[in-house]
Amino acid sequence: MRHFTDLAALDAAAIERLLESAQELEAEPLRETLRGKVLGLVFFNPSLRTLSSFQAGMAQLGGSSFVLAPGQGTWKLEVRDGVVMDGDAAEHIREAIPVLGQYADVLGVRAFPEGKSLEHDLSEPLLASLLRHTCKPLVNLESAMDHPCQALGDWKTLDDTGVPRRGGRMVLSWAWHPKALPLAVPAAVLKMGAMRGMDVTVLRPDGFGLPAPVMERARALAAGAGGSVQETEDREGALEGAHVLYAKSWQSPRYYGDPNGESALRSEFREWCVQESWFRPARSDAIFMHCLPVRRNVVVADEVLDGPRSRVVPQAANRLHVQKAILLDLLGGSR
Ligand code: CP
Repeated sequence: MRHFTDLAALDAAAIERLLESAQELEAEPLRETLRGKVLGLVFFNPSLRTLSSFQAGMAQLGGSSFVLAPGQGTWKLEVRDGVVMDGDAAEHIREAIPVLGQYADVLGVRAFPEGKSLEHDLSEPLLASLLRHTCKPLVNLESAMDHPCQALGDWKTLDDTGVPRRGGRMVLSWAWHPKALPLAVPAAVLKMGAMRGMDVTVLRPDGFGLPAPVMERARALAAGAGGSVQETEDREGALEGAHVLYAKSWQSPRYYGDPNGESALRSEFREWCVQESWFRPARSDAIFMHCLPVRRNVVVADEVLDGPRSRVVPQAANRLHVQKAILLDLLGGSR
């Protein structure tokens, strides 16, 4: 593996190797395999899990890491090509990324979408630019439309819980949130469920359907893996016999780049907060998943988050194990 930027760039055998490696690393966490190796982490946006789990993971493998938050103690970085840099940004990623590659053996970057044009953000221009300028392996720590580390950790959580791959039924449900949130996590989770061969239903109110290219790609991946992808606003029907309810809020693609229109539409759906009663049509052992951070009693009720269905902490724990497997693979360390 040269980079880790998109789960769908890996074949089934490569994913299986990463999951096996993560299982071994969970059982035996401490290694010296990456002694002397350095991970450089660049966070254009905030994080709790991704930042701390990558630093902890690198330390547990014998290596070290540094973190930059551009504009907060380091130069603000320009990411657009061809601009006159007479604003806040003192340095361009065209220099910054190759320079960081002189100090680090692997780089991880988190950069959320610009949020103005859906077509622009769907094409992942910043991720493409980072890949052009890096001389070292790159890990996508969440880009405009993807969060592959989250998706791989969630795949492991589903395996650990015994949710079947083929025949496993996952409902990816939209939830209300006071802010318009990016599409990266729902797109990544949908892709993961499809690649895992599950039957995935996207449950969302009218106006919150995921972008057509995201749905089309997921349908193609599901077809190749023996699964399926549907979408509906019928909650009861979607959850009939479900193994998993994965909740996430995302902004309306219909009003992308139009905050007022988006906010007006979203305000109609405040009752989309996951309650225990939502699980009535599901399997009795159905689980609840969310990538975190999550707003209690806004996205999901305390009764679900604190109840036996919740897998949110094991999901976060699995981020550590799978990311260590990714680092070992990228840096050529033997297991
Ligand atoms: N799920 C996730 O990526 O968490 P952070 O935003 O805290 O890194």
